[in-house]
Amino acid sequence: MCGVVAVIGKQYASQFVVEGLKKLEYRGYDSAGIASLCGGILQTVKSEGKLTNLINNLSQISNANLYSDSKISIGHTRWATHGNISVENAHPLTSENRVAVVHNGIIENYENIKNNLISEGYVFKSQTDTEVLPHLFMKYIKLGNNFLQAGRLVLQEIKGAFAFVAMSLDFPNELFVSRNSSPIAIGLGDKCNFVGSDARSIDHLTQKIIYLEDGDYALVQSNDVEIFNKNEEKANRKIINIKAEIGLVTKGGYKHFMEKEIFEQPVVIPQTISPFMNGISEIKIDLNKFGFKNKNTLLIAAAGTSYYAAMVGKYWIEHIADLPVIIDLASEYRYRKPSIFGQAAMLVISQSGESLDTLMALRHGKELGLITNAIVNVEGSTIDREADFSLHTRAGSEIGVASTKSFTSQLVVLFIIALALGKKFKNFKLSQIQKYSNYIHTLPSAIARMLNMENEIKSVAHNIKNAKSIIFLGRGLLYPLALEGALKLKEISYIHAEGFAAGEMKHGPIALIEDQVPVIMFLVSDGNEDKAISNLQEAFSRGAQIILIADKECIKKAPFAHFKIEIPNFETDFKYFLSPILMAIPAQLLAYHVANERGTDVDQPRNLAKSVTVE
Ligand code: M6R
Repeated sequence: MCGVVAVIGKQYASQFVVEGLKKLEYRGYDSAGIASLCGGILQTVKSEGKLTNLINNLSQISNANLYSDSKISIGHTRWATHGNISVENAHPLTSENRVAVVHNGIIENYENIKNNLISEGYVFKSQTDTEVLPHLFMKYIKLGNNFLQAGRLVLQEIKGAFAFVAMSLDFPNELFVSRNSSPIAIGLGDKCNFVGSDARSIDHLTQKIIYLEDGDYALVQSNDVEIFNKNEEKANRKIINIKAEIGLVTKGGYKHFMEKEIFEQPVVIPQTISPFMNGISEIKIDLNKFGFKNKNTLLIAAAGTSYYAAMVGKYWIEHIADLPVIIDLASEYRYRKPSIFGQAAMLVISQSGESLDTLMALRHGKELGLITNAIVNVEGSTIDREADFSLHTRAGSEIGVASTKSFTSQLVVLFIIALALGKKFKNFKLSQIQKYSNYIHTLPSAIARMLNMENEIKSVAHNIKNAKSIIFLGRGLLYPLALEGALKLKEISYIHAEGFAAGEMKHGPIALIEDQVPVIMFLVSDGNEDKAISNLQEAFSRGAQIILIADKECIKKAPFAHFKIEIPNFETDFKYFLSPILMAIPAQLLAYHVANERGTDVDQPRNLAKSVTVE
């Protein structure tokens, strides 16, 4: 998704901006650009594609002093929404070469504003919604307003979810910054200041960060930052000290970040577990605080992979705590008038803490009077700050667009919540809860054993890499894993893949089975495995290529499978309850190796963004 970076008051500003943009690359983008004030002119350089193209363009432009002379510079990575991928539509967008703006989000009422500006003589060069911003600034500056006044007037005209930074040749020592729903951070330096879409994009410059709140805007100068709230009153926002994450952007010897992140799971899972446990089996979660004083229905909302984690959470919480759980796609929840009958609290799940759909669902739940809890990976993110209570996954930075270690970390936290609720509402015997709590500590070594299956998974990947379409099947706790396996595969390999509940096949999807279509099933013995194997047999009889990833017992029952990948031997209950975490590993490895063999851009797949900050 789009990212913005700005530097004011520091020599080599444009160089620092480019470094910041590199840190935002993980979000996904399709063009990039920067604008700097240099030698009394506004110099804009933009290019399609990766940042290396922008860097090449920068080194070729005639003004060789751009890097050394500029003390004020803004930059952008664009993920196309309005208008195709082109240099014209890349940011910064300018007006009369005197104002430049970089913008994340969408100006919803841009068409009306654009028509008015055209009738006033402004010429539009792009198809973007953003271009109204520099022209509006220009209009108000020409009317005699200073930069702050001009910015205020611009904000009065626009609607939508956005974060932007503007600079002007007429006010060479000022940046105007504003946020509404989309995140933005201001970094404080010594006689210089910085702006970034997230703290990480500017942590090479400062560790003192201020997050603007919704509706805030700021005038940023090299030696001053003035912040105002939506009522135009001066606002004091907390300064947060962040630790620079050194070594963050290295692949540590792996070919891709995704591969590194898959193999980090045995390390990040114990990191996630430890704040929630006292000793071996005592869980430290204050359920009363989270709105679980009484036995109410819990609502969980999330998007993408985080939604599949929510699905698993529903199965666990209902089974272990006998507490009803409703799960909802965040993008659907926010536009409904949901009944909150019997509900006291909601839980949102988000790796980035910035998914706009999930943030809006959280706000919707808050307006409806629910206590809002969040499972979130990025501390200090908007969802982390806005939720009443946060439970952090400590998966570390996840750079690959595909969620891997953050998914298993979310599952671990959900399992811990399920156990805490099970204990509180005395659904299971204490000894049983204790047994399951002990399981949590054996997870890291179990995951490491699952990772040892890589070579077998690689050979399956090699075999299916040219398939046109792939079907994933699962039942019960492993149904969400079928959906997750299909999502992982399609997003990075671009092969069409669908996940189905195995029992649903005969209600329609079985029509998709034709000769050699790969059908992949995750399975562990749970007493119902015969049913799942019958579903697999039905696909086999219609010519599908059957790939079964299962425990020994299930494999014995499906001799017809073309590929049988046996998972390591685990205790029966452990294997059953924690199967979604265990099976996430082959699902991730399979997607990774198929994509790697196909030579796709594994870490930044086409059209996708790491944090989705538009609707
Ligand atoms: O940051 P979030 O967890 O809120 O992101 C939600 C989805 O956008 C995300 O899980 C997406 O589906 C991943 N690319 C899947 O690998």
